[in-house]
Amino acid sequence: MARIIGGLTTSHVPAIGRAIEKELQSDPYWSPFFDGFAPAHRWLAEQQPDVAVVFYNDHGLNFFLDKMPTFAIGAAAEYQNADEGWGIPTVPPVAGVPELSWHIVDHLVENEFDIVTCQEMLVDHAATLPLKLFWPNGGGPKAIVPVHINTVQFPLPRASRCLALGRAIGEAVARWQSDARVVMIGSGGLSHQLDGERAGFINKPFDLAFMRSLVEDPDWTARYSIRDLVEQVGTQGVELLNWLAARAAVPGAVRQVHANYHIPISNTAAGMMVLEAA
Ligand code: DHB
Ligand code: FE
Repeated sequence: MARIIGGLTTSHVPAIGRAIEKELQSDPYWSPFFDGFAPAHRWLAEQQPDVAVVFYNDHGLNFFLDKMPTFAIGAAAEYQNADEGWGIPTVPPVAGVPELSWHIVDHLVENEFDIVTCQEMLVDHAATLPLKLFWPNGGGPKAIVPVHINTVQFPLPRASRCLALGRAIGEAVARWQSDARVVMIGSGGLSHQLDGERAGFINKPFDLAFMRSLVEDPDWTARYSIRDLVEQVGTQGVELLNWLAARAAVPGAVRQVHANYHIPISNTAAGMMVLEAA
């Protein structure tokens, strides 16, 4: 059976892509963010995951407002990245693992999740930046399964539903007949709002409580409605639902290997965590 080794979470601001391109990792603006990843690199060098399930939200590259699935899963042999208009370099195609994707899709549909299955899927910065951040020199997982959660266009799925989705995906992966080592990745957040009267909104106390809850009490976020969450973390901060689903996909307890939190990167409270399956 496949082995779920743990979870990785990170924010995914497009400007990070430009900072990587320009090699600004040690610049005073950027180092409090990039330095947070060194312990993750050490952990990953030991753990050597083969496959990553990437929970993220598409921002209009693959899905647009005309067709926005609540949950969608890639089942392709390869995922192309493309220009989203942010001016960040596109990355070469990332390999998929259709066998695992279809295994997850079967399990989810059997368990009454009405997902969209994508045999073609463009992946945007939310899926590609975590790979660049956690494996800056390449050598990352051989393949990914992208899982899109709509955090962009209302109505959004409740936190409780994202928890359930993550748990169901974790069950499916744990039953996959493979000796692969699988890591769950959650991309997005933490608190930020890019538009409207509250543009620039950040909520450090909530972000830190949320990060703590992923270790101590993953169900904590389920007490908030989507409107409550938007109030707490901003219209784009709800991207933290991807962290929640990724954490839920790691069965049982986790040990926090490392966490970092830094305000701001662009308009965003930028966080990252490394959670090892206990
Ligand atoms: C920013 C944050 C995001 O999550 C995103 O998708 C795009 C931009 C920002 O802070 O600039
Ligand atoms: Fe985003």
